[in-house]
Amino acid sequence: MKNNKSLITYSDPKSSAAEAYRMLRTNLHYLNIDKENRVIMVTSSNMAEGKTTTICNLAVTMAQSNKDVLLLECDLRKPRIHRVFNIDNSIGLTNVITENKTLDEVVKSSPEYSNLSIVTCGPIPPDPAEILQSISMRNFIEQIKSEFDIVLIDVPPVCSVADASILGGIVDGVIFVISSQETNVESAKTAVKTLEKVGANILGAVLVKVKLSRRGYYYYYNYYSEDENTTKKKRKKHRKKTTDD
Ligand SMILES: Nc1ncnc2c1ncn2[C@@H]1O[C@H](COP(=O)(O)OP(=O)(O)O)[C@@H](O)[C@H]1O
Ligand SMILES: [Mg+2]
Repeated sequence: MKNNKSLITYSDPKSSAAEAYRMLRTNLHYLNIDKENRVIMVTSSNMAEGKTTTICNLAVTMAQSNKDVLLLECDLRKPRIHRVFNIDNSIGLTNVITENKTLDEVVKSSPEYSNLSIVTCGPIPPDPAEILQSISMRNFIEQIKSEFDIVLIDVPPVCSVADASILGGIVDGVIFVISSQETNVESAKTAVKTLEKVGANILGAVLVKVKLSRRGYYYYYNYYSEDENTTKKKRKKHRKKTTDD
């Protein structure tokens, strides 16, 4: 896991990217996620925009702050959470819905954080939308909501299939991922309208895959993450340089 590029919050917690995920966690905290918005879905307009990467890092960051987190795979078409965490996917959500398996039978602990629980997809079903709109699915969400501090749900993109819209109306809040490299403005607008139509509570958007310059945020974070002595030396050097100028 240490070399896992998708899980930067675990592999390189001092990086600017990990800090950005912590800021996302803080911003969500101010939206009262502990009480009102406990079940949060992360989606975007199209595929490969960064939904799974965002939700997995958010889950790790929340677990690092001692919350009991459940990460639930509801992308039953192209599940990837089990790959990110390198865990078994032979049993998961589909077994709960189609075979009445219990939460205890399908839930796994993240290899690194005992307070981060994961329910993977399980066998890929022929009818993902049917599964997601079933009564059993609603009941399962109610159950996990009562057992965890926060539930994070990964889903397919809004523009290609109905899955995200089905869950959008059930969950407490939705985070919308926008990729600075892939997301097309018109698709994003269509996706947001689709989510609004089903009554989704869109908490906000997260901009990902932004190329940062050394002078921007990245520089700022490194400066403050250094130890006191290095920082003092740098300040002295900077003062000397300013005087020389
Ligand atoms: N914040 C990011 N910065 C750089 N690359 C990213 C970021 N988020 C995702 N990616 C890359 O984009 C690709 C798609 O990411 P993924 O999270 O699987 O997207 P989605 O779940 O929306 O299909 C992967 O190769 C992933 O490594
Ligand atoms: Mg995904």
